[in-house]
Order: sequence, then structure tokens, then C-alpha cells
Amino acid sequence: MEAAAAPAAAAKKSSTVCVTGAGGFVASWLVKLLLSTGRYAVRGTVRDPGDGKNAHLLALEGAGERLQLVKADMLDYSSVASAVAGCEGVFHVASPVPYGQSSNPEADVIAPAVTGTLNVLKACKEAEVKRVVVVSSVSAVFNNPNWPKGKAFTEDSWSDEEYCRKNEEWYFLSKTLAEHEAFAYAAKTGLDIVTICPSLVIGPLMQRTVNTSVKVFLSYIKGDQETVQNGFKNLVDVRDVTDALLLAYENPQASGRYLCNSPPIRVSDIVNILIKSSFPTYTYPKNFVEFEGGYTYDTEKLRKLGWTYRPMEETLRDSIECYRRLGILN
Ligand SMILES: NC(=O)c1ccc[n+]([C@@H]2O[C@H](COP(=O)([O-])OP(=O)(O)OC[C@H]3O[C@@H](n4cnc5c(N)ncnc54)[C@H](OP(=O)(O)O)[C@@H]3O)[C@@H](O)[C@H]2O)c1
Repeated sequence: MEAAAAPAAAAKKSSTVCVTGAGGFVASWLVKLLLSTGRYAVRGTVRDPGDGKNAHLLALEGAGERLQLVKADMLDYSSVASAVAGCEGVFHVASPVPYGQSSNPEADVIAPAVTGTLNVLKACKEAEVKRVVVVSSVSAVFNNPNWPKGKAFTEDSWSDEEYCRKNEEWYFLSKTLAEHEAFAYAAKTGLDIVTICPSLVIGPLMQRTVNTSVKVFLSYIKGDQETVQNGFKNLVDVRDVTDALLLAYENPQASGRYLCNSPPIRVSDIVNILIKSSFPTYTYPKNFVEFEGGYTYDTEKLRKLGWTYRPMEETLRDSIECYRRLGILN
């Protein structure tokens, strides 16, 4: 672990938690949430603490006193072990989320997800971390040809590894393998592990780089295609995902995996909300071809923990305002 990029002094009485991949889309919002509670000192891992792409973290309220950025690569066990040493809790968020196909999926996607998760868990066990919350994905849930057609997915469904391999869905495979390994490790060692499986995460960006899920979301609404399929989309606000992560960490009753998704919404409804909420001139798709396929998710288990989600209107409005401010949309 190299020199901290920010003062490391943890506030008295706050417990120290580690967030892996702190500069990413989801993790940045999680760091912000954790700091805002006043209950935590946060150790965020990044691959390069000196990189300006992490500057938004250091500008957060409370960062000066309670945020420390440390260098760690998930594939380098000793850096991971140093990062989690002394932490009461760990949020393992870091994992590659590729846009498009990789030429070397084993090295680029699967190893960082699977070996990375195992490295984090082993380090947590060694450091006697009380609970680890792992960010998985609905990608580890829905790619299951044996699930009854039309039935909402529950936490009981697991994506089929062979099916993922056959279809070269490497990201889905990486999340499925990593989450399986996490629960196998929990069963073997007794480490307290909870996983959250979000759908496509959208919302305002804190960092300046556009991550994969926001690129995917923009492809739904950008006028690149005049005609689009009007299927249901499963989206969730990044701020609601971080609420779920905190609930999963703080609620002693939380266990196992949790699906995290807002009610599905059709592409035409997304476009209509945007048109009504003062973005009428944007070049949206014009024709919608009705399409009845698509998945639904049962989020009752997470809602029983007290999870709620924002109205999609708010998510869309905040997202578009942010993307315009950053120049991603005009
Ligand atoms: N966004 C979604 O729609 C969505 C949905 C479900 C689940 N998830 C999960 O949520 C998590 C965060 O996703 P995100 O959307 O926030 O993606 P993101 O912005 O691309 O963040 C991914 C983070 O992982 C880090 N990372 C990747 N490989 C690493 C390695 N070998 N060592 C250390 N750090 C590494 C990246 O660091 P660098 O900046 O250094 O590359 C980055 O900070 C992932 O686990 C993803 O699978 C995301």
C-alpha cells in the first residue's frame, strides 16, 4: 500500500470501512453516502491515488478528516490485505464492467472479478472484518434458461455458467463465478458476506468519465436509432443502490443475496418523462416497436430490509441534468 492521498485521520468514534474501487460510478456515491452519515471513516482503494480522475472523492464533505485513498489492485493480494487491515467492514465494489467484447476475457474480466473477490475475502477473514458487502449483479441471476418463462426472478435464480460461456457473455460469467465463490468462501470460513445484485445502474455521475452502464442507458435514448424495441428496461438509481449497500451492511438481519431494481419501465415511457421534464428538443427515437419479452425481478427481500427507491422521474431528471452539465449530452 502506498502513501495516502488524503489525511488519514479517522474521526473519533467512527468505524473504519473499506470501499474497493472507490473512484468508480457506484463506489463514488457509496463513499459520499458513508461520509455523509458521520458514522464512518472510509478507506477507499484506487489503482492510482495520484490520478486526477479520483479528485472528486477528495472534494467530498468530510473527506479531509475521514477519507483515505490507498493504492490497491484487486489482483495483488498484499495491496488488498493492507487496504482492509483494521477495517470493521468492507464493501467490495471493484470489478471490471467492460463496454463491448474483450479480446482476452479471462485476463481482463474474469480474473479481476473472481480472483479479486477471493483476495478481498481472504484478506477480510485475516483482518477479522465483521461483514463484507459484495456488489454482484442481476447478471448473476437472469441468464438462467431453466427459470420458468414469465416468472419474476428471485434470489433463488443463478445464471448458468455454461450458458454464459457458450454465448460468450463474459461479464455475466464473471459476476456469476465471483458471487458463487463468495458464498462458498462464506460457507467454508464463516465470514459474514452479503451480496447486492443491482440491475442497470443509472443516475448522475460524480466522476468525469462515463462508465459502461450510463453508456448503455444513453444508447436507449440517444437518437442514433430512429426505431427501437419498446421493451421493459430494468434500471435502478445509483443512490438507491448505495442505500441498499448501507442497509445490507448495517442491518444485522441481512443475509444472503438481494436483488436491487426499480419497477421496470418501457423505453417509450423513459422518453415521455424526458420530454415532459424539459428535455423536449433532444433527438429521441421516434418509432417504438412493441416488444413483450424482458425480465422482471422480485425485490421484496430487499424492501423488507427497509429499502425504497426514488421515482424514475427524479432519476431521469437528475441524470440528464448531470450529463448535460458534463457535456455528455447537449
Ligand atoms: N453499473 C451497473 O449497471 C452495475 C450493475 C450491476 C452491478 N454492477 C457492479 O457494480 C460495481 C461497480 O460498477 P460501476 O458501474 O461503478 O463500474 P465502474 O465505474 O467501471 O467502476 C469499476 C471500478 O472497479 C475498479 N477495478 C476494476 N478492476 C480492478 C482491479 N483489478 N483492481 C482494482 N480496481 C479495479 C475500477 O478501477 P479503475 O478506475 O482503476 O479502472 C473502477 O473503480 C461492479 O462490481 C459491477 O459489476 C454495476
